[in-house]
Amino acid sequence: MPETSRAAVDSSSLSMPLEEAMRTQRAVRRLKPDPVDDALVLRLIELATKAPSGSNQQNWEFVVLRDRAVKQRLGRLNRRAFALYSRIARRVAARDAKMQRMIDAVQWQADHFEDIPVVIVACLRGFRPAFPPIAATSFYGSIYPAVQNLLLAARAAGLGAALITLPLWSSVLARRALGLPWNVAPCAVIPLGWPRGRYGPTTRRPVGDVVHVDRYGNQPFRGR
Ligand SMILES: Cc1cc2nc3c(=O)[nH]c(=O)nc-3n(C[C@H](O)[C@H](O)[C@H](O)COP(=O)(O)O)c2cc1C
Repeated sequence: MPETSRAAVDSSSLSMPLEEAMRTQRAVRRLKPDPVDDALVLRLIELATKAPSGSNQQNWEFVVLRDRAVKQRLGRLNRRAFALYSRIARRVAARDAKMQRMIDAVQWQADHFEDIPVVIVACLRGFRPAFPPIAATSFYGSIYPAVQNLLLAARAAGLGAALITLPLWSSVLARRALGLPWNVAPCAVIPLGWPRGRYGPTTRRPVGDVVHVDRYGNQPFRGR
């Protein structure tokens, strides 16, 4: 099916059962360069904005990168951070085949950053209090529900996506690369495109291992 009509079909049918989307949404980094329709991108961002935000400020700003030159600027930042990260991560995970595969995928993404059809930078506008910690948490906490909505909507549309932060290692350089004003903070980057591979279930810790009842350490569901 030609890309435009595939996008049109996907754009009108995001009706995947929620549980299936949640169970199979994962970091998909190897993406095709095929175009992704504007209408679909806007729909994903609209669904992202259905998320909660601190004091319902809805202070999100989404910068959609399509221009190769701008993607290159962010891609360069990503590669610089990845060069350092990969050296450390490969050493730490020397005997962990799964982790090595993930680093390979991150490497692929770094090598092909400019070819990814759409890169969305999720930002927050406004004052970022550094103290007390809860104020900073509430500020940054406002972006992640929206990003997760976007990731789930992308999954339902059949698009591959991942939440990444490596390109934002320097907020000064990232702001400069994107032309952001001082009061708009880049928080998360979501490269988006049609996946090269397949989706699969994610591997996560068993639910009983992360649940504590009434007090920390009381884990009656452990092992489940
Ligand atoms: C706050 C945050 C930052 C992340 N930064 C990066 C990143 O810079 N590069 C990257 O490839 N993945 C990044 N990830 C994705 C994680 O590596 C990924 O969610 C995790 O490995 C689980 O992958 P899976 O959903 O495919 O199982 C980030 C995830 C989160 C939540």
